Amino acid sequence: MAAKVDVILGAQWGDEGKGKVVDVVAPDYAVIARFQGGPNAGHTLIFDGKKHVLHTIPSGVFREGIWNLVGNGVVIDPVVFLREVKSLDDAGVDVRPRLLISRRAHLILPTHRALDAASEADKGQGKIGSTLKGIGPTYMDKTGRNGLRIGDIERPDFMERYRALVAKHERLFGIHDHQVDWRANEAEWLQAVETLRSFQLVDSEQWLNERLAAGDRVMAEGAQGTLLDIDFGTYPFVTSSNTISAGACTGLGIGPSRIGRVIGIFKAYCTRVGSGPFPTELHDAQGEALRKAGNEFGATTGRPRRCGWLDLPALRFAVMVNGITELAMMKADVLSGMGSVRVCTAYRIDGKETPNFPYELSEGLQPCYTELEGWGAINPGEALPAALEHYIAFIEKAVGVPVCLVSTGPDRTATIMRGPEVATR
Ligand code: IMP
Repeated sequence: MAAKVDVILGAQWGDEGKGKVVDVVAPDYAVIARFQGGPNAGHTLIFDGKKHVLHTIPSGVFREGIWNLVGNGVVIDPVVFLREVKSLDDAGVDVRPRLLISRRAHLILPTHRALDAASEADKGQGKIGSTLKGIGPTYMDKTGRNGLRIGDIERPDFMERYRALVAKHERLFGIHDHQVDWRANEAEWLQAVETLRSFQLVDSEQWLNERLAAGDRVMAEGAQGTLLDIDFGTYPFVTSSNTISAGACTGLGIGPSRIGRVIGIFKAYCTRVGSGPFPTELHDAQGEALRKAGNEFGATTGRPRRCGWLDLPALRFAVMVNGITELAMMKADVLSGMGSVRVCTAYRIDGKETPNFPYELSEGLQPCYTELEGWGAINPGEALPAALEHYIAFIEKAVGVPVCLVSTGPDRTATIMRGPEVATR
């Protein structure tokens, strides 16, 4: 019987800890496949006392005998990609034999990065806070039907196609006031494209569907988070891809009937990096304390993350638009030692309370909080503190799906499975 694709995705504004969960459950899967985003992502994995950050390569790469696929929905910067391969090489992991790249994935050019920077500079106060990795301009060229794909690097006329796209971008630079020197990066980029040709470039939709037909279980690994989704996020302060579960279908070439479980990853509190509304943000010492305790600094850009309380209307919205079947709660340990914790259960908008996540998180929107008892240390090998169990039960009741995994520390081993395991055969 054909196997299913389970999806792991972010249920908040990204940085929830997807990489860790994928790494933990990877041994139960034959294939781990990234379906959207690109080097704006930074998936952190910690084990054996070492920290690894992945940007483009799927988080199954540290497990033996698993295929890792970069799907068609991903955008790839060859320079960043090869840097990642090198750092894995240095860590003793040879990715080449087990890494496949979709020919339909789009290429990020040096000019895309320059356009990203120029566009953000033009926006001034209204800037999105992009990671400046060229994500937006690359997806714009994809939907504008101008993009270059990985498969193009195998064509004899690749350089002509590249020059034509660069010429188009140079015309666009004219409409921005900000000159960016992109040529300095061109030689390195072209060299990286040469090297990329030696990787396994495949018609990934065909390959993946054949694997499924053969009964191999597949995990689709999302990047960013639901509230950064191009359609359902806090537009325009979003990324340029579909981060929700539907993105796994278009980003891998699988039908909706192939999707099995949808596992939403969320932190016991909320963070956001970059601009845009954040109703439960803490602007005080408590926010600062959370940032410090949770080491909330971007894995890709190093920027401090904005921190705040858990937002249940937003989480319920994520459960709805993704069809989340179970949740994994991360960083429960970061809240340890707080006398009490607050949870936003509804929003007050124009004097009216609503449990729903609205079209716009306007300035007048007020979060309505419930205060719950805090918990102390979470000790390995012991039951979770009763107050934490109560916190989890409160969330489960509010959003209607079970929390099946609780992460109590950054290491692979600091993971507690509750009830039905996130990944069971
Ligand atoms: P871009 O995708 O780099 O253009 O960034 C758009 C918005 O998404 C900015 O607010 C970024 O900070 C945010 N963003 C992009 N990727 C990530 C991520 O992996 N984690 C958290 N935020 C992200």
